[in-house]
Amino acid sequence: MRVLSGIQPSGDFLHIGNYFGAMRQQLALAEQHETLLFIADYHSMTTVRDAAERRAFTRAVALDYLACGLDPKRTLLFRQSDMPEVCELAWLLSTVTPMGLLERAHAYKDRIAQGQAADHGLFAYPVLQAADILLYHADCVPVGQDQKQHIEMCRDIAARFNNAYGENLLKLPDPYIPEDVAVVPGTDGRKMSKSYGNAIAMFAAPQEIKKAVMGIVTDSTPVEDPKDVSAPLFQLWSLFAKPDEREALFARAKAGGLGYGEVKKDLLARLTDFFTPMRERRAALERDPDAVEDVLADGVRRARAIGAPVLAACRAAAGLGRSA
Ligand code: TRP
Repeated sequence: MRVLSGIQPSGDFLHIGNYFGAMRQQLALAEQHETLLFIADYHSMTTVRDAAERRAFTRAVALDYLACGLDPKRTLLFRQSDMPEVCELAWLLSTVTPMGLLERAHAYKDRIAQGQAADHGLFAYPVLQAADILLYHADCVPVGQDQKQHIEMCRDIAARFNNAYGENLLKLPDPYIPEDVAVVPGTDGRKMSKSYGNAIAMFAAPQEIKKAVMGIVTDSTPVEDPKDVSAPLFQLWSLFAKPDEREALFARAKAGGLGYGEVKKDLLARLTDFFTPMRERRAALERDPDAVEDVLADGVRRARAIGAPVLAACRAAAGLGRSA
């Protein structure tokens, strides 16, 4: 089974919601299956307009994944734009993609509903994403609920292309939506998201992390009283605890006498312990930019070995280029 994931480089830091919500599962899958993991810098052009920012964000994703344990010998880690052939496949696919299909895409619909102008890149975003997946005959695409529609569109587009030019040219992928993915609340209790300003960055300065943890919302229940363990503070704490530890702390919380301050301090200690080895690995990688570029170069070389024959078959089947 071949697994493929794309990560959009849209910010300069990843937060613990990214880690527990997606990265951890991606890394676990990558240990078991052949995995392609690329940094979707072409896709980021629909939101980021600054070249230096894009480079920095792209690099940050590579560093974050390597720091968090991605093994580049097993997993093909590469930059989407180092494989420009994906844009050619996107064109081929666009010619079988109905306008109506793209008009139903959530991202596009939301933009229009907000009265904002949409460019063609945003409209065609799902076609490029389909090309990302289909170019490598991926079997399985682990995604969050928000990406489910994109995978369905990918399947639809692949079926249409196969129907037009030949069965089995493209492989229809299955989405994989892991069920045990933690919903990670932010410091204000809403879903953790960079755009809400409620995120706890994984590799921020210790002072900044401390400030975020101490700022997690709590109510004014006095120390002696029982606490609601569904509160964001307990949910966040649980991410760093073993089941039996969790049971013990929740029992104390329900019994009363456990103060929020104590939980916050313990959370900070656990969080720091958990991310320190990754932080150190990241710092070491940051001092060695060539090593990261070498990883990406090796990744795309291996990705091309998979993708080039797929594209060649599609081109030939569609009557493009000189005949063999
Ligand atoms: N659209 C995805 C996101 O925003 C990123 C992405 C681009 C992707 N191409 C992909 C994900 C292919 C999976 C497969 O998260």
